[in-house]
Amino acid sequence: MEPMRFFFRRVSALAALLLLLLALWLAPRDARSATPWGRDYFPNVPLVDHDGREVRFFDDLIEGKVVAINFIYTGCPDTCPLETAQLVRVQELLGDRLGQDVHFYSITLDPDRDTPKVLKEYREKFGARWTFLTGDLEDIWLLQKKLGLFLEEIRDGLNNHNVNMIIGNQKTGRWMKRSPHENPYVLADQIGTWLDGWKRPSELNTYGEAPELRDVSRGEQLFRTRCAVCHTMQGRDPERALGPDLLGVTLRRERQWLLEWLRAPDEMLARKDPIAMALFEQYNRLPMPNLRLNRQEALDVLQHIAEETDRLAPVAFKNTDADEAGNRQPLPEEELLVVDRAEIQAAHTAAKAQTGYLTLRNPGDRPVVLAGVISEAFGEIQIHELRRLEGRMRRHEVETLVIAPGRRIEMRPGSMQLICRERREAIPAGQKIPLTLQFERGLQQTTVAEVVRR
Ligand code: HEC
Repeated sequence: MEPMRFFFRRVSALAALLLLLLALWLAPRDARSATPWGRDYFPNVPLVDHDGREVRFFDDLIEGKVVAINFIYTGCPDTCPLETAQLVRVQELLGDRLGQDVHFYSITLDPDRDTPKVLKEYREKFGARWTFLTGDLEDIWLLQKKLGLFLEEIRDGLNNHNVNMIIGNQKTGRWMKRSPHENPYVLADQIGTWLDGWKRPSELNTYGEAPELRDVSRGEQLFRTRCAVCHTMQGRDPERALGPDLLGVTLRRERQWLLEWLRAPDEMLARKDPIAMALFEQYNRLPMPNLRLNRQEALDVLQHIAEETDRLAPVAFKNTDADEAGNRQPLPEEELLVVDRAEIQAAHTAAKAQTGYLTLRNPGDRPVVLAGVISEAFGEIQIHELRRLEGRMRRHEVETLVIAPGRRIEMRPGSMQLICRERREAIPAGQKIPLTLQFERGLQQTTVAEVVRR
């Protein structure tokens, strides 16, 4: 080829390239990001984060970012805590990527009540590491509308607010709604890889496409989608669990209590059910959401929990049953409590029952659940508590006594006591009687009570 022509060709190719770059540089910023949903579409409204800092929706929160956005309010009894818990799981799966490659925002629908301070407390309760925001209600409704998450009904009250959240990538313009019942793994996967480079789709696009390895019962399905974000079934509370581990719960709680609890935990707390109150205190004052289960669904979930307990811990929870050879399984001993005082009142041989008092302290950093007290000397020992009910003091049996970390419980006449029945033989004052404290998860501790005369 002739050298001169070759030279001109190269110069014009270079010039064309320069022109193109110049055109791109001069074009408005949105055109460069190749998405129709840019600055013109999203309102750049001011919001205030949980630390009281003012931010702008488009500039500071979403521009060029991969985000998950949901609308919640801290007084919400049902779906919001489920969504927040689910996002906490996703946060754990994403690890360091959260806050760097991926950003989560929870925006309140109740700015009157949800001040930055209230949002900050809520965030800490859940162990959330992302940003919670408040702002002007009209602005927030506008954002919801623009994100396709707005329902007219919400104007009438917070209760039926939209349960969806949206995940998106502002740069690529890819947005999609997600349900709070989605599996956290699938969500993390979608947020982490699919949104980022949608040319390399992940194998698991939706939960429905996940390989079905075996028949999943309705109860198991419900547990996975509604409960597993807050509860495990492994026999002990994991590091950052939001709710108690549920292995064995069908054995340690009354069935009726469980059914009521699953259907309306918020109502039980409102009417100050003692177990509900104790659990609430223990689990960081984070209320269990009302998941709006119907009776059949509640039964299905309980069935699943009972089956898992049977499968995973047949010995630990059935320790009072004899095995085939007629031997009782010995329980593992563990000193969970410090027993400062243990005594049983001496009684006349004709007396049907004897009272006893324990002073117990929990020196550990986890709650201890005392599920029962037994002794060779008595057929039955119950823990009784006096409580005011409809204006009258009444005695009632405490099924499980929860002792918070660092707490001390002192049984006293008029508050709480042991009622020991079915004495096997006469026990004179001064005698020592071994008592066994039984805890949940099949642990036990032996102590000695002294028989005293008052
Ligand atoms: C957002 C988190 C969350 C979700 C979702 C959730 N729970 Fe809970 N659950 C809790 C918390 C927290 C407690 C402790 C009580 C409290 O603080 O109100 C609890 C307590 C319980 C208890 C009582 C445990 C005991 O030791 O007596 C049971 C049973 C239970 N939940 C079952 C379920 C089932 C079944 C589901 C699913 C259908 C579910 N929970 C969904 C948070 C949750």
